[in-house]
Amino acid sequence: MKDSDRFAPVAYRAAIIHSLDDPSTAGLEDSYQYYEDGLLVVADGHVVDIGQAEDVLARQPIDLKTVNLGNKLITPGFIDTHIHYPQTGMIAAYGEQLLDWLNNYTFPEEKRFADPDYARKVAVHFLDELTRNGTTTALVFGTVHKESIDVFFSEVEKRKMRMIAGKVLMDRNAPEDLTDTPESGYLDSKELIERWHNKGRLHYAVTPRFAPTSSREQLALAGKLLEEYPDVYLHTHLSENKNEIAWVEELFPERKGYLDVYDHYGLLTKRSVFAHGVHLCDGECQRLAEQESAIAFCPTSNLFLGSGLFPLKRLENFGVKVGMGTDVGAGTSFSLLQTMSEAYKVMQLQGDKLHPLKSLYQATLGGAKALSLDDRIGNLAPGKEADFVVLDLEATQLMKFRMEHAHNLEDRLFVLMTLGDDRVVSATYAYGEKVYLRE
Ligand code: GUN
Ligand code: ZN
Repeated sequence: MKDSDRFAPVAYRAAIIHSLDDPSTAGLEDSYQYYEDGLLVVADGHVVDIGQAEDVLARQPIDLKTVNLGNKLITPGFIDTHIHYPQTGMIAAYGEQLLDWLNNYTFPEEKRFADPDYARKVAVHFLDELTRNGTTTALVFGTVHKESIDVFFSEVEKRKMRMIAGKVLMDRNAPEDLTDTPESGYLDSKELIERWHNKGRLHYAVTPRFAPTSSREQLALAGKLLEEYPDVYLHTHLSENKNEIAWVEELFPERKGYLDVYDHYGLLTKRSVFAHGVHLCDGECQRLAEQESAIAFCPTSNLFLGSGLFPLKRLENFGVKVGMGTDVGAGTSFSLLQTMSEAYKVMQLQGDKLHPLKSLYQATLGGAKALSLDDRIGNLAPGKEADFVVLDLEATQLMKFRMEHAHNLEDRLFVLMTLGDDRVVSATYAYGEKVYLRE
């Protein structure tokens, strides 16, 4: 490729939909833009124009290079706000709820990441699954081994995806060969932050696994890291399972509750993302909103581990930011489409309807907001980074047949989310470059 070609704009022609705002606050009508015959113009990794093809063509140079995608739908790349790359090899492990699932399946698998060759092999599989499913940004757990993050970020760099990840901090209540110490965890995290944070599209997250596996000293040092590096993320688990919550209360009797443990050590920031939050009280919701911290809603995981039904409406009423997470390997799919489908059912069980435009928002712009990255990603507004997916709404015989009976955009979107998975993803682009093409 010549240098002049790299910066020359390329236009993609297809139907396009993207979110502009949260339908719950802006209203459905003003929450999105849809172009039936759309054109997305990309140059140097960024969106430079978007609109109805006729209008965009009128204002762009006549020799604009155009890729005609036919009867496809372009959406922003999906954003997964909570996932574990080391759990790729143990997804779909039978029979346990959280604490036994960790001891019986998760910890034995995570021990294997002491070997960086194994870690690299899994990282490659993991990133292939993300792009196969149209995910272009994720907030990712590593293992306790700092090499798990070196390997991961070095593989991400090859694909130009915007990714956040961190080494697990875990100094108690776990197998000896999976624990660090407060000091080693602090120093290893610091070294990784210095090496990777804000390098290209990469960001670091300080990652205590959850309160039960960190001592008070370790949580205090996690807080110190956030003070020393105010723009790094904090990523952990919170109030997922009833037995877990009771255990936290036993381990930290001096604190008011689970969230208060993290709060006490200065871990509630604008860049803090807590996975699950299934069983929060009103005071905890209020505090999360005050601190502008976010929750990752992980419906396939919450159902798979029998953790409970996520109270999305309640969190929204308190004004807490919520993104979607797959939580693989407790989650059962890498697909944000499948995750939206399960989210819909979780809301049905609580007597609520999750509108497809709201789901689209949560899996894209809402996720970007939860990660404080909405100035760069989350939709396809000019100036944003060009992370997008090309979807085939007729990828399966059933979808093709069902789409013939779909009467409007919302109906088509809902069918896409209910029946779609990796089979509908024709191509995935990160920073304007194709990182996946379905054969
Ligand atoms: N809580 C602590 N560790 C984990 C984990 O690996 N997965 C889930 N779902 N919850 C956790
Ligand atoms: Zn998790």
